[in-house]
Order: sequence, then structure tokens, then C-alpha cells
Amino acid sequence: MQSVGKLMKVFVTRRIPQEGMKILSAAGVCEVCLWDSDEPVPRSELLKGVQGAHGLLCLLSDKIDVEVLDAAGPNLKVISTLSVGFDHMALDEIKKRGIRVGYTPDVLTDATAELTVALLLATARRLPEGVEEVKNGGWSSWKPLWLCGYGLSGSTVGVIGLGRIGMAIARRLMPFGVKRLLYAGRRVKPEAAELNGEFVPLDTLVSESDFIVVSCSLTPETQGMCDKAFFSNMKNTAVFVNSSRGAVVNQEDLYEALKSGQIAAAGLDVTTPEPLPTNHPLLTLKNCVVLPHIGSATYSTRGIMSALTARNLLGGLQGTDMPSELTF
Ligand code: NDP
Ligand code: DGY
Repeated sequence: MQSVGKLMKVFVTRRIPQEGMKILSAAGVCEVCLWDSDEPVPRSELLKGVQGAHGLLCLLSDKIDVEVLDAAGPNLKVISTLSVGFDHMALDEIKKRGIRVGYTPDVLTDATAELTVALLLATARRLPEGVEEVKNGGWSSWKPLWLCGYGLSGSTVGVIGLGRIGMAIARRLMPFGVKRLLYAGRRVKPEAAELNGEFVPLDTLVSESDFIVVSCSLTPETQGMCDKAFFSNMKNTAVFVNSSRGAVVNQEDLYEALKSGQIAAAGLDVTTPEPLPTNHPLLTLKNCVVLPHIGSATYSTRGIMSALTARNLLGGLQGTDMPSELTF
């Protein structure tokens, strides 16, 4: 770990793209203590590293709870997370202590929407299975009944959580010839009108959609929302895609639904836990495509996220505006 001098102390919990590190060092207001690794900081090192810090730059895999806040102590002014999701942070406690929070909305919307569309198509058209068959000699000839999947043309798509990313996914899917766009959430979204989106109760979305895309935030209300009842309500031919957070899904119930043919297929960019153990039952299923949480993983997006996270941190340290401050 690098050492800390007289300037304000900042603890950075992982190696991040250089864009952010350059901004922090050029500012000349803080001394950075970096967990210099691509792997997560062990909890004990996080608790040690954060001691006396004025700023904390963290990732979605760092649980920022009372213990971390206590370990940091009263100097802590700002927490800046390299993510748009903030379910890993104990916001009530953070608020009580008057700590400001920065996050990365908008800048990763396009990358995440693009990946979600790629995952949907890969799952619906069975791309991983097809690639595997080419490699293992299973491709014997062109066969009329082989490796058939489901297409978007004429379909009904249901988006759960039509926020920034949900809307960007919907915009990308409609040109594939989608007939109806349904969405469910807490309130009507005026911007859905441009896509003729219909705001419907969750049950209606689930039973009428051919493709269900989950892009809501993880909250106490959405935790475990996709459970046995949810999957039982889906069409047998429907495809389920989740690029929000793994905990929105009850994975045992999803496994049963996929195994029994209750639903056609599932594509997951997020799981519980992450990483998903290699012996997890979901990984035994051909109709389940699992990606390692790579929604925002383009070089450019990660660089921009890193820069924004650094600027948020500096704003919090200096008591000035943060480009993307979470209001809570
Ligand atoms: P937004 O805040 O713009 O969107 C979140 C949406 O969740 C809102 O539309 C909100 O609906 C909806 N929502 C909240 N509660 C519920 C509920 N009870 N039922 C249904 N919908 C609900 O955030 P973003 O679009 O920017 O990001 C969404 C999430 O995507 C992030 O929180 C993160 O978890 C995940 N994410 C994953 C990535 C990946 O790599 N796979 C990359 C980036 C983000 P309403 O507006 O009606 O309240
Ligand atoms: C987020 O930002 O919340 C994603 O999960 C990673 O980019």
C-alpha cells in the first residue's frame, strides 16, 4: 500500500482506470492510499485503509456499512463509488453522518444497454450453445429443427424498471420489429410515449411478455421479486434477462423454472453471489447464459466512469459541487 502524508487522505479500494488516478494526483489536495490490486480489498485491509480517510473511492463489491464508517471515523466527508448502483452502501447511516455520496449515472447507460441487448439475443438465439457445437463436433449438417430459438420480430417486450438503462435498452430493441413495449415500475414515464410504451401492473407484464428485461435498481421492494410465482406466470416460450442486480432474482426458483421448461431461457449479467461458483446448478443448464457482470465494460466507458468518480470525490473533499452527487 502507498503511504499517506499531510494532505487529505483518500482511500481507493482497487486499481482503477488511469483517467481517475491522474485527476486525483493533479488536483494536489489529497494523498491517495491505493489498494493496488485488480482483486477486491480484503475486509480487514478495507477497515485499516479507511482509517482517518477524508474520502473513500469504492466499488460495488465493497460493502460500505456501519463498521466501515466507524473505522473511517469523523474525517470522512465523501464516498465516491465507481458505479451507478448504490445498493452496497448503508445510505441511512451515511446520511446520519453527513457524508456526501458520488456515483456514475448516465455515462454507462449506452454500454450497459448494448450489453443487455447482446445478452438477450445471445440467449434467445442460443449463441453460446451454437459456438460450443461448432467446437465439439456437434455440427453435423444444416438441420431444420436444430438450435432454433426465439426472435424479436412481432414480439412483446416487458421492461421492469424503465429508468436510464431500461429506456436505452427499449430504444435499442424496438427497431428489431418489437410489436408492444410494456413496462412496470413505480410510476408512469412520459418518455415511454416515444416508443408507445404501456405502463402495466407487474403481473400483466410478466404474463404477456415474450422477453422480460430487468433493469431496475435493487431495493428492499425489488429484492427477490423474480421468484416462483413470477416465473410461473411467464409464458413457456418467454426469455428472461437480468442486467440489474443478482438479488432481484430468486436463483433457486429460476433454476427450477428453466429446468422444468416453465420458461424458455434466461440471460444473466448479474448473479448472487458474484462470482457465481463454478459448480452452481444454473451453470449446468444449456438454456441459461451467465456473464460476469460486464454491462459497463467498454474501455471508454470505464475510463469515463473513473474520471467521473475522481471528480465526484474531489468535489466532496473540497466542499464544492460534485458532477454526479446522489441525493438521498
Ligand atoms: P435508474 O435509477 O435510472 O433506474 C432504476 C429504475 O428502477 C427506475 O426506473 C425505477 O423506477 C426502477 N425501480 C425502482 N424500484 C422499482 C420497483 N419496486 N419495481 C420496478 N421498478 C423499480 O438507474 P439506471 O437505469 O441508471 O440503473 C439501473 C440499475 O442497473 C442500477 O441500479 C444497477 O443496479 C444496474 N446496473 C447494472 C450494470 C451491469 O453492469 N449489469 C451497469 C449499470 C447499472 P421508477 O423510476 O418508477 O422509480
Ligand atoms: C453499476 O455501475 O452499478 C454496474 O453494476 C457496474 O457498472
